[in-house]
Amino acid sequence: TFVVTENCIKCKYTDCVEVCPVDCFYEGPNFLAIDPDECIDCALCEPECPAEAIYSEDELPDDQEEFLEINADLAAKWPNITEKKDPPEDAEQWDGVKGKKQYLER
Ligand code: SF4
Ligand code: F3S
Repeated sequence: TFVVTENCIKCKYTDCVEVCPVDCFYEGPNFLAIDPDECIDCALCEPECPAEAIYSEDELPDDQEEFLEINADLAAKWPNITEKKDPPEDAEQWDGVKGKKQYLER
């Protein structure tokens, strides 16, 4: 599966959802999650993310491993999203900020 990681938090650009052939992105207040049971590993979403927040499970940075479970948990409870929407107004300011996990709204 592919995994949305920490840098999506508070950026949430949503470019990723437009290219997913199986519509397996789910939307929370300030983060998106991929359903690992639905993702077919096509890799189309990875280059679409302006925040470079999407990784293959096999290439997850060590400090992002916990996002595998976070994606699975949150995709199961959040609504599906298939159309791009405007990002938060301050998305650019948050792009690349470390330690954003504390702001993840579930
Ligand atoms: Fe969707 Fe493909 Fe990305 Fe999986 S890898 S979330 S199937 S676009
Ligand atoms: Fe998040 Fe990147 Fe998609 S910031 S919403 S994973 S385009």
